[in-house]
Amino acid sequence: MNDLFKQAANDLVAAKNVVALTGAGFSVESGIPPFRGKGGLWEKFNPMEYAHIDAFMKNPTKVWNVLLKGLKEIIEKAQPNDAHKGLARLEELGILKTIITQNIDGLHQKAGNTDIIEFHGNFAWHRCLDCDKRCETERIDLTVIPPRCECGGIYRPEFVFFGETIPPQDLRRSELVASQCDIMLVVGTSAVVQPAAFMPLIAKGAGAKIIEINPEKTPLTASISDYLLMGKAGEVINGIMAEIEKLLSH
Ligand code: OAD
Repeated sequence: MNDLFKQAANDLVAAKNVVALTGAGFSVESGIPPFRGKGGLWEKFNPMEYAHIDAFMKNPTKVWNVLLKGLKEIIEKAQPNDAHKGLARLEELGILKTIITQNIDGLHQKAGNTDIIEFHGNFAWHRCLDCDKRCETERIDLTVIPPRCECGGIYRPEFVFFGETIPPQDLRRSELVASQCDIMLVVGTSAVVQPAAFMPLIAKGAGAKIIEINPEKTPLTASISDYLLMGKAGEVINGIMAEIEKLLSH
């Protein structure tokens, strides 16, 4: 692994335009469960029953009780882990330009990154289904479920449910930055949910190197990724950052 830390550090320091694509695995070390795999949310819940927009519209009380209430509690407590801190440092060093994240937890912002495309929206804000008024999630009162706006309408999170489209401006900008980067770091994503999983293919097609960080292989590993650093995001990014700091101090 040490050789791979060095290789990734060399590649990143030599690059001019690095973009990261992050997924749920990135926040596992912050205490937020992933969707798929061991301990994943979809082991307990059927996504179509709780995370589809039709399910929410049909029975918001059920979705709030089973999924959103718990999510609010977990996300409110979560803090950036070493992986988030590493990407913030990479931006500070001028190496990392943009993060495309599928995560809705706001932890990249909290860690200090400034150019983040929230591909699946975020959980920081909610919107009234009736009057469209926005409310910060931390100000939403959960004593009555589902929570309601002053007008009586039900609040929904500003994230993208299954069955909804990615905001076109986020999709367009992700495709653009993917096509312009010379390295894409793909971290903590199972790379099975489209169109996010297509971004590494765009980058690769435009000549970028794809560096994957994940404790498991993904559909990208064999054919798209140049190499995989197998391990937890925080540990691997710490290893790479230590090598980068050594290179830059010489
Ligand atoms: P998944 O839950 O599908 O995949 C999590 C990935 O993280 C897996 O490949 C794990 O091997 C990896 N992983 C687990 N622990 C890790 C760790 N400590 N460090 C690094 N990697 C780790 O998450 P996503 O790919 O983000 O969409 O899922 C994509 C989308 O599916 C989500 O954004 C969400 C979901 O349904 C919507 O809600 C629309």
